Amino acid sequence: MPDYYVGLMSGTSMDGIDAVVVDFSSPLADETPRIVCAYSHPWPDDVYQQLMASRDIPDDELHLLHDLDIRLGTIFAEATLALLDKAKLSAADIIAIGNHGQTLRHRPDASQPFSLQIGDAKTLAQQTGIRVISDFRSADIDAGGQGAPLTPAFHAAVFSSENEARGVLNIGGIANLTVLPAGTCDDEYSAVIGFDTGPGNTLMDAWMTKTCGRSFDENGEFARAGQINEVLLKRCLSDAYFHTPPAKSTGFELFNLEWLSAQLDKVPDAAVLSSADIQATLCALSARSISDAVSRYARDIQHLLVCGGGVHNTHLMASIRSALPDCQVESTEVCGIHPDWVEAMAFAWLAKRRINNQPGNLPSVTGAGTAVMLGQITNF
Ligand SMILES: Nc1ncnc2c1ncn2[C@@H]1O[C@H](COP(=O)(O)OP(=O)(O)O)[C@@H](O)[C@H]1O
Ligand SMILES: [Mg+2]
Repeated sequence: MPDYYVGLMSGTSMDGIDAVVVDFSSPLADETPRIVCAYSHPWPDDVYQQLMASRDIPDDELHLLHDLDIRLGTIFAEATLALLDKAKLSAADIIAIGNHGQTLRHRPDASQPFSLQIGDAKTLAQQTGIRVISDFRSADIDAGGQGAPLTPAFHAAVFSSENEARGVLNIGGIANLTVLPAGTCDDEYSAVIGFDTGPGNTLMDAWMTKTCGRSFDENGEFARAGQINEVLLKRCLSDAYFHTPPAKSTGFELFNLEWLSAQLDKVPDAAVLSSADIQATLCALSARSISDAVSRYARDIQHLLVCGGGVHNTHLMASIRSALPDCQVESTEVCGIHPDWVEAMAFAWLAKRRINNQPGNLPSVTGAGTAVMLGQITNF
């Protein structure tokens, strides 16, 4: 009997909607759930522009927000239907969709903390004929947590080893690290650590867009052509975020071009730096903040399993490897899961947890007072 779930994930980079059908009934030999089908759905250009523009919307422009919410529900439905078409499955085959949604604001440290993902669940459920689980972060925030990262529980379920401590690093727009002590088993996740290390691709992407008109630095070639500026790097690494102990999470609200501009203002001779030098320094910033986090919180790991788009940035990966000579830094592919789909799979897994009335957060990771069920169920 197949046990199919759809996972949809679209992160800060907005490079597309990652969609997977996962079968939890026939795991691979090592109990890894099986990806039945994976698909990346493009954002329409106008919606991409609106989502970018939405980052600057004054908070009271709710009308636009509402329309965008419905429009995204429709697009997530299109992504799901295209995925099912590709998988040759029908809505009746799918138990539920776990939809992360597109984050507009993540403010876990505000006086009234919240994390807002849009993509109307009712629209998605009605247009697909599939039950939807959405709004995964609010329950954790209500329980006093950061509402992020949520994927470490999934990382623990599929990447833990009896014999060795492992790290799982997702390099999306923001990078997050999960530390899995050896022997982490099903209900013993209290020792798992997980947090956002800081920028993954987001600053590099923003700088490429601004200076080269390209959305990302393919294989890190532009960064490779520049020289790291140590003064700027040190300045960036002095940001309080990097020195705050976990639990912590961040987003584009902090790490953006205004943030970079504020760092550059404090660097003498910044004007003589070339665009490539700044890109090289931003790549070094991602690598250093990641390797510092590993050295500090995951000292014992022998393997660092990497997923997310940053795994394809060969220059970034080489920089991380050279900063962590005692650790094998590899793609999650070595564990049988393609690095591009891990996060979407995690939301299929979290949907299954919700359907089964099981908690989805790890209090040791998010800082929540207790483990809680995550997500709202919306029937079609
Ligand atoms: N070949 C590549 N070279 C460099 N960077 C890449 C490459 N492929 C993907 N990326 C980076 O990965 C990002 C997408 O990563 P993803 O894990 O989908 O992030 P998010 O979860 O934030 O959507 C792109 O914006 C880009 O910066
Ligand atoms: Mg993405």
